[in-house]
Amino acid sequence: MKAAEIFEKLWEQYTGENPSAELIYNLFQNSGERVVNDHVAFRTFDDPRVNIDVIARPFLEAGYVPAGDYYFEAKKLRARHYELPEDAESPRVFISELILDEFSENLRRMVRSQLDAVPEELLASPELIFRGNLSKSISYEVFERLREESEYAAWLYAFGFRANHFTVSINYLNGFDRLEAVNDFLKENGYPLNNSGGEIKGSPEQLLEQSSTLADRVKVSFTDGVHTIPGCYYEFALRYPDEHGRIFSGFIAGSADKIFESTDFR
Ligand code: NI
Repeated sequence: MKAAEIFEKLWEQYTGENPSAELIYNLFQNSGERVVNDHVAFRTFDDPRVNIDVIARPFLEAGYVPAGDYYFEAKKLRARHYELPEDAESPRVFISELILDEFSENLRRMVRSQLDAVPEELLASPELIFRGNLSKSISYEVFERLREESEYAAWLYAFGFRANHFTVSINYLNGFDRLEAVNDFLKENGYPLNNSGGEIKGSPEQLLEQSSTLADRVKVSFTDGVHTIPGCYYEFALRYPDEHGRIFSGFIAGSADKIFESTDFR
């Protein structure tokens, strides 16, 4: 699958369940902007069946290469980002994985049993990244127990493999050169932002500023009832040139740490 086809399919799935993203995208388009994605993010577990290397496969086949490694101590996550060297406008791919060994045996058992339910041929297939939740029968009780240890694990249990967020590149917008202006525009239009660590994560000195909406609330059918839980969010990123005039292309762990909280309960 070509990169563009992968992102088109991911976008369809993402906006299907998180209508705010498409409404915000339309807001920009209607004000004459061309929306280019800075990055698209995935979440996974470090289990060898679904770890970063597995989720990255379809992107590597599409020509992507690894371009940065990250570690999030408090959230017990590792991440890697990938880029497509032949196309600067193709979004970076940011994949994080939960380090299962750092959690209780209880959590590990719940995760393993969900992964056991994923058919082997799917684990080996490029379709895995569109799979959605890990098993077709998920329980709210398990979701809640996961959430006690990790909001990330609970989100992943409920929503699985899909784009966790798309990210609008502010660098490509003509009418906005500051992230504050984008944030004001979003708030004026009724989209609340993730305020954890302040609306803007990062700084011009760090060469990257990011903000994000709070995740849409999504109705999910669990075996023990339908519950409304935080789904996906939309992110906005502004990159600055380094001292050699090259636009910074990596990620700032301290900022991403707070962005992860866009899908927390509140
Ligand atoms: Ni992001």
